[in-house]
Amino acid sequence: MIATDQAIEAEADRLLRSLLHVDCDPRGKQWNYEACRAIAPLTLEINALKREREAIILAHSYVEPEIIYGVADFRGDSYFLSVKAREAKAKVIVFAGVVFMAETAKILSPEATVLVPDRDSGCSLADSLTGDQLRKLKALYPDATVVCYINSTADVKAESDVCVTSGNVYHIVEHLPAKRILFVPDRLMGENLRTELKRRGVDKEIITSDGTCMVHDQFGPADIAAARSQFPGLKVVAHPECTPEVAAVCDFVGSTGAMMKYVKTTGAPYYLMLTECGLVGRLQVEAPEKNFIGGCRLCPYMKLNSLEKIRDALRSPSPEQIVTLDENIRRRAAHCIERMFALSPTD
Ligand code: 13P
Ligand code: SF4
Repeated sequence: MIATDQAIEAEADRLLRSLLHVDCDPRGKQWNYEACRAIAPLTLEINALKREREAIILAHSYVEPEIIYGVADFRGDSYFLSVKAREAKAKVIVFAGVVFMAETAKILSPEATVLVPDRDSGCSLADSLTGDQLRKLKALYPDATVVCYINSTADVKAESDVCVTSGNVYHIVEHLPAKRILFVPDRLMGENLRTELKRRGVDKEIITSDGTCMVHDQFGPADIAAARSQFPGLKVVAHPECTPEVAAVCDFVGSTGAMMKYVKTTGAPYYLMLTECGLVGRLQVEAPEKNFIGGCRLCPYMKLNSLEKIRDALRSPSPEQIVTLDENIRRRAAHCIERMFALSPTD
């Protein structure tokens, strides 16, 4: 597709209106008219390919802002994007996120061709536990209900009783009848879950495996103390993949969707976002009046997504870009995710 100069300039203007405010990239990437004009032919081509292929693009809030605001049809957290994947009528779903998210889309929309821009976009949590390892753990705790965080492989989901996300984990586990829960693969979220259930007066035993998120496990309480002394009135906002020591001294802990909502609806002079920088970028676009003091980190896996890889996948996907799953595993994993939808809070 050859776009006219006029179409490219209009597209560059459209991109600039969103991206102008984004300046949270620790690599120093700047968004100005020239930068938007440089990518405009690519976003135009991708949007035309989407129409041609009857495709949609789902983008997690951690991917680059030019994907989120240039070509994505839906942007959000893992729960929201799973709902959109399940509802999708498109022939093709491109998942700009990480592989376990694309696998989840394939589990929920098996008729669609699901594409992942970069097959190496793993996740330290999903990669920490295999289906075989979970089978061995289950043998040690045969009476436990197995709850898997959505940041897990399709094999792990197939071995689990119910899936949860960062937005519904406390609610779902609180309401499960079992007293003993085997929670995988995030040890830190499991520890935060234990604390939260105790706070709610719920008596459950939470056994965890040993994975952590390589981005969120890096934040420490000392960073928070230093920031609070420098910025009076600061609100500290964290993800439940952070350590319990961090969660204990934050103003708010929640999913990326809940973190966005909290910032948009809270009046504070400054915010410290203990999460991936992409989320701060989204807030700079959608709540440009708010002040963020830095401190976010990059997820190397999320940052493997690019407009070029999305374009290539839509033009002619390589075998590695096409998500395929064994049908028996897919069906069992779908059961575990459907149980999550049935048990999720309705608000
Ligand atoms: P959310 O579902 O809260 O967006 O979390 C996904 C994730 O990978 C966080 O690191
Ligand atoms: Fe996985 Fe952490 Fe990256 Fe989220 S931020 S995709 S949990 S490695």
